[in-house]
Amino acid sequence: MNLKEQNLQYLQFLWNKKAFIELMLLKVFPDPKEVTESVASYFHIQNHLKIHPGDDKTVVFVVGDGSYPRTAALLAKISNWTTISIDPAMQKCIQKSSNIQKKIDKLSFVPDFIENYQLSQELLDKFDKAVVLMIHSHADNKITFEKTLVPFIEKNKTVGIIDIPCCFHKTFCSCSLQFSDEQILSSKNQVFVYTNETLKEYYLKNI
Ligand SMILES: C[S@@+](CC[C@H](N)C(=O)[O-])C[C@H]1O[C@@H](n2cnc3c(N)ncnc32)[C@H](O)[C@@H]1O
Repeated sequence: MNLKEQNLQYLQFLWNKKAFIELMLLKVFPDPKEVTESVASYFHIQNHLKIHPGDDKTVVFVVGDGSYPRTAALLAKISNWTTISIDPAMQKCIQKSSNIQKKIDKLSFVPDFIENYQLSQELLDKFDKAVVLMIHSHADNKITFEKTLVPFIEKNKTVGIIDIPCCFHKTFCSCSLQFSDEQILSSKNQVFVYTNETLKEYYLKNI
């Protein structure tokens, strides 16, 4: 990949922000590629799921976030969203994950497979909107949908999924929108968006 040909808008967006410097000191991002994937999700939630970063009634589940909270840490820092990072790989980096969590309000992490995740009644009552974010995640997106978003749909709340897959993409329902995001500094830059309408229609027909 020729970096000169890439649009660097996502890196530029963060560059001088205090939040970015704090995240770098916490060593949340191993490289610029990861930064662009996380910032991409921030814009796609706003532009395609129509959820404003100031909306504090939104919870974002970042499933397959990596060995420690990464995208969930960024989103909790630069928006009013509450974020929950879920990945079994965090079992090996509990100390680092806890350190990151302590420094960032509205961030929590679950060092486990999504299959074992139990959504609490408190979350269900507290939030009006729930988003799943899967960035190069290896978790199953149908199981993820059932464990996180279905209870919100059943309460008639707003849901959405942004999926940016890597090695494989197994989809459980047809997406609302698919495109390549050339500002992600990776060849794995296909973005699949599932809006509230699409997911509710799927739920009514299949669950
Ligand atoms: C290729 S890594 C991507 C990590 C990070 N999102 C990134 O872009 O660097 C895939 C991640 O999916 C996680 N994963 C695999 N199965 C999972 C499951 N059932 N539930 C949650 N996470 C899972 C792995 O532990 C791993 O951290």
